[in-house]
Amino acid sequence: MKTGQLITVEGSDGSGKTTHLDYICTCLRNRGVPVVQTREPGGTDIGEALRNILIRRVDLEMHADTELLLMFAARMEHVEKVIRPALKSGTWVVVDRFIDASYAYQGGGRGISAKRIGVLEKWVLQGLSPDLTILLDVAVDVGLGRTVSRNADADRFEAQDLEFKSAVRDSYLDRARQDPNRIRVVDASAPKTAVQESIRAILEPVMGQFPGLT
Ligand code: TMP
Repeated sequence: MKTGQLITVEGSDGSGKTTHLDYICTCLRNRGVPVVQTREPGGTDIGEALRNILIRRVDLEMHADTELLLMFAARMEHVEKVIRPALKSGTWVVVDRFIDASYAYQGGGRGISAKRIGVLEKWVLQGLSPDLTILLDVAVDVGLGRTVSRNADADRFEAQDLEFKSAVRDSYLDRARQDPNRIRVVDASAPKTAVQESIRAILEPVMGQFPGLT
């Protein structure tokens, strides 16, 4: 039986995701919640090896289905070796990207049907779903201005064109509209302190479910 909470954080390039992830984990730890912070693709040795293949620029032309399958192969390891055991032991898991990223990037960005992604979701997640997803939303041009996307260090996803990035953002927002209770959109173009206030307000009721508090 699952006892910890699964919190996922999603966002486009330049949304300040890394900083805000640290903030979320700090809030939880300050309330005494045991937390594991991890990421996708990655989070295990195999997952990190697959991440390197997935993001390196040398394979810019990888087939979209190869990309999708590698994302889910990495996710399989991550779910079985890290996420489920942690949740089972009562530890909360905060993940830098998860299932919604596959619908946004491989679905919206690459044009793979949601039905096909859904088959893999059922297979790999077996009904596991995030309890809360924080979507750090920022307009593509604003995000771009904050990132390395246009320079030589950009990874395979950062190097994609504006059309791809807009499709990714639209897919994330579509998913948030379909599941507003789980996916909470935060305006990441606001100043850092305002973003953190919004995140904190979203986290409060969730943290209230931690049995150690009452
Ligand atoms: P990061 O830049 O947030 O660390 O994530 C690495 C890239 O992986 C990011 O550009 C989005 C991409 N990605 C997908 O395309 N599909 C997925 O399912 C996941 C988890 C990430």
